[in-house]
Amino acid sequence: MEVRATTDAPLDTDADTIVVGVFEGKGIPHDVEDGALGALVESGEARSAFRELTHTHAAGRRWILIGLGLRDDFDGERARIAAAVALGRARELGARTLCWELPHKVDDRVAGALVEGTLLAAYRFTEFKSEPGEDRAPGTLIVSAHHDVAAPVAFGRAGAAGANRARDLGNAPPNAMTPEALAQRARAIGGVQVEVMDRAAIEAAGMGAFAAVAQGSVNEPRLICLRHEPAGATGPLLGIVGKAVTFDSGGYSIKPAARMHEMKFDMGGGAAALEASAAIAELGLPLRFVTVVGATENLVSGSAMRPGDIVRSRAGITIEVNNTDAEGRLVLADCLTHARDQGAERLIDLATLTGGIVSAFGNVHAGLMGNDDAWCDAVRAAGEATGERVWRLPLDPAYDELIKGRYGDLINSSEGRKAQSITAAALLHRFAGDVPWAHLDIAGVADALGRPYARKGASGWGVRLLLELARSA
Ligand code: BES
Ligand code: MN
Ligand code: ZN
Repeated sequence: MEVRATTDAPLDTDADTIVVGVFEGKGIPHDVEDGALGALVESGEARSAFRELTHTHAAGRRWILIGLGLRDDFDGERARIAAAVALGRARELGARTLCWELPHKVDDRVAGALVEGTLLAAYRFTEFKSEPGEDRAPGTLIVSAHHDVAAPVAFGRAGAAGANRARDLGNAPPNAMTPEALAQRARAIGGVQVEVMDRAAIEAAGMGAFAAVAQGSVNEPRLICLRHEPAGATGPLLGIVGKAVTFDSGGYSIKPAARMHEMKFDMGGGAAALEASAAIAELGLPLRFVTVVGATENLVSGSAMRPGDIVRSRAGITIEVNNTDAEGRLVLADCLTHARDQGAERLIDLATLTGGIVSAFGNVHAGLMGNDDAWCDAVRAAGEATGERVWRLPLDPAYDELIKGRYGDLINSSEGRKAQSITAAALLHRFAGDVPWAHLDIAGVADALGRPYARKGASGWGVRLLLELARSA
């Protein structure tokens, strides 16, 4: 969808369909000549309760009126949801060019949120459908405002387009979206330096934890590394780390059959890291970053790792694999070390790491754990601004006891069902060391997000949070 901002009034654009938000207790900001829109509100036919829809024809255009609820309750997330709901109606009606009139007296960033809600809701994944059917989403979106909102509109567009690209990577089946396929996508990202390590290079670098996960598959692993150092950018080098297990069978600690197919989404962290990096570069944000994505499958075979194996990470720490299904932390351990080797001065990792975080937060919050309060606060703020909300769990040293090794330095899974999300983070902490680091466990939000703008399938969660963090940090 083409997206643009304008200071022209909606009726001065070429839109066939105009969306107007209605706050409770307020009228229509700009009515048409014969007062047709205001009459709809006054008669109660156009309702102002949040998400209520009606549509009509006036002044030669189609109008969609959508309730925005109380002005005091309105925020970016409500804007995204309203935009998604309005897009649904616009699609049914066959709108070709859609114009949103920016509600008055709202933060400029609402303009970006409207773009996000529209683009995310318009997303479809039909690559593997023989008969995809007609895409009825409008071809153009215009945001009309009294003042210039080109910057927030461009920012919203880049974030949502990045999230939709990440959804494509996630929704692709695991026989297509192999580690090498992900590396291919990375090589096509503009404005960054790309380096890809293959199995031999990973082994030669001493990344025995990552290599152990990958040894069960004939599909080679890839350690994907992007670098972005725009001229004039100062500030600490940000390390963005992502888990990209393109399929997680659990290995010998095998997962139940019923939902195993959903483990194609186990690369959501890596997809978000890559596509956020692409969006940061595209927008030319003055930020230095290095992105490290560990891409591998976790399969069962005659060469797969066994429960009981002890692996040696690049950092020299040995890990006893008491559960082959706790593979994400093995991959991330070496990726975090690699990011530090590349000079990262702040770290954020995203990973579909534990079922425990799904039990704790469902699809509402991602889990946040970290070693630095200010950095965690920055991540939390970026989450609030984007609707990709996070909730922090403690990383108390007392949890380290639960991953102490008997035969090696660490075990990769705490016994029983104790504090699984936190002990996973406790293991990662050993590899992040004292670099300010935030870990996002996104197992509950990477797919089936259940929001009006991203209901089923891969969500692209994290792309917009990372982009906001890059903008604000
Ligand atoms: N990829 C899974 C975590 C996951 C679970 C993601 C559900 C999405 C939905 C991860 O590799 C895993 O298997 N974790 C285990 C760890 C356990 C064996 C310590 C888990 O959480 O059950
Ligand atoms: Mn697993
Ligand atoms: Zn996994």
